Amino acid sequence: MNALTPALFSRDCQFIAGVTNLEQMPPMHLPEIVFCGRSNVGKSSLINALLHRKHLVRTSNTPGHTRQLNFFNLADTAMLVDVPGYGYAKASKADIKRWQSLLFSYLRGRSQIARVLVLIDARQGVKPGDEEMMTLLDDAAQPYQLVLTKSDKVKSDELEKARTSVERAIAKHPAAFPHTLATSSESKDGIEGLQESLLELLRTLAPTPPAAG
Ligand code: GTP
Ligand code: MG
Repeated sequence: MNALTPALFSRDCQFIAGVTNLEQMPPMHLPEIVFCGRSNVGKSSLINALLHRKHLVRTSNTPGHTRQLNFFNLADTAMLVDVPGYGYAKASKADIKRWQSLLFSYLRGRSQIARVLVLIDARQGVKPGDEEMMTLLDDAAQPYQLVLTKSDKVKSDELEKARTSVERAIAKHPAAFPHTLATSSESKDGIEGLQESLLELLRTLAPTPPAAG
């Protein structure tokens, strides 16, 4: 087991699988941290920022780019999962149905999930699609936390508005983790805070080392 310090995020991180159907799911041997949110909210960018890397995870200017559940093994300590964004208007109905059903089956059936991060664009606040996702996570009994993205794109009063919108949503969903973080993959604001929050989570899951002596 690697030390659960911020250095973890600079360690080796390997792409394991791009999953398009349930049969391809990798074995459940590590705690999974899932990044979900609307299309283009900045999921892939946030994973890259957390890992101090630019291009480990593909990002794009074309919304709806991530088409599969992408699993990344971080130093045999945690699995980071980049999921397709919801709310992409131009995707075909058949496509939307296919990956929604994949995502829902994954979220409902996966006991290894340690936390789902629901990313919210600071410029937009919580949208109906995000509420739907939160309800799904409530039903699936998965622990989740809301994280604001692209904080560099808004002025401080807009950021406060977005925070309020998130706090209101959380109040309606008691299963949501009460602590909200604002991040920017561009300026790196909030990235250390998110790393610390994930490390704390992993520490609670790690077996206690035997007492010295
Ligand atoms: P899909 O996989 O298509 O659902 O998108 P995604 O949620 O993975 O978003 P992605 O990380 O690909 O980012 C989408 C766009 O937003 C890209 O052009 C990024 O460069 C930009 N972006 C992401 N995060 C930030 C941020 O913190 N600040 C700014 N200014 N731009 C960002
Ligand atoms: Mg993506």
